[in-house]
Amino acid sequence: MNKHLISAADLTTEDAILVLDTARELAQISDRPMKKLPTLRGRTVVNLFFEDSTRTRISFEAAAKRLSADVINFSAKGSSVSKGESLKDTAQTLHAMGADAVVIRHASSGAPELLATKNWIDAVVINAGDGTHEHPTQALLDCYTIRKHLKNNDGNLAGLKIAIVGDILHSRVARSNAILLKTLGATPIMVAPPTLLPVGIENWPGEFSYNLEDVLSEIDGIIMLRVQQERMNAAYFPTAREYSRNYGLTSNRLAKMKPTALVMHPGPMNRGMEITAEVADSKNSVIVEQVANGVIVRMAVMYLLLGGSGEMGENK
Ligand code: NCD
Repeated sequence: MNKHLISAADLTTEDAILVLDTARELAQISDRPMKKLPTLRGRTVVNLFFEDSTRTRISFEAAAKRLSADVINFSAKGSSVSKGESLKDTAQTLHAMGADAVVIRHASSGAPELLATKNWIDAVVINAGDGTHEHPTQALLDCYTIRKHLKNNDGNLAGLKIAIVGDILHSRVARSNAILLKTLGATPIMVAPPTLLPVGIENWPGEFSYNLEDVLSEIDGIIMLRVQQERMNAAYFPTAREYSRNYGLTSNRLAKMKPTALVMHPGPMNRGMEITAEVADSKNSVIVEQVANGVIVRMAVMYLLLGGSGEMGENK
């Protein structure tokens, strides 16, 4: 494995399978009453969040704590960053504090890469979402969830078709998933109105379509994306109502999918916009389970990148 996890493309097929297999083993431990492992005792993980996040930050924090790491939460609001401290100064501060891993979320695409490639810090860098670029641990947790349900928790995802629907243009989740699904042998299908597909979509892995109805019957799973109003500086579609009519996941559309098809969403959901409440709470939905799997997968990533010592199954 690479030292850092910046992009889903950092993972070879073998690496990706190793993360998923490690997560599967860690999941067994998480079912026990005593969830904590001593693996990262004495190591320091810094959660460096320059952008608002609840679920991802808490997920990384829970993962690090279950591995017994010391966790420092550093959020940009109320820190020296809001006084104009540069990423370099922040990195050097964290270095001086002995950070072994830095989990970074940043509104600028490329910030984690900068942190990993400049010699400001020698910690492992894990990208927790940068701008509209990538969110590799989200893709890992999505693939883990798909594998668990559709592939008996084993092997790659060969032969599966997964639609990713909505605001592809602004979505780091879509980009990382397209790469990782392909690495694992599945076919990602990007579905969006032309205005919400990035330039060069034809060069992305997999397929793309402007028509959600066209793909429903052939897919094994669907990842609905949040419409990211905060990254939109123009009108990308006429009205929310029209968007929902064409690209929203409704019970009617769910009925046209395979009975086993998985409904996924990285959260936070706009219920009534990209997905109806009924579908979000339907038996096909694994949205709540994705959150639990997120902790497991992030544990696996930290375990592998920080080269945890001691037996994985050892419980103290
Ligand atoms: C996603 C993100 O922040 O990139 N959410 C998440 O990580 N749970 C998707 C989103 O914000 O819509």
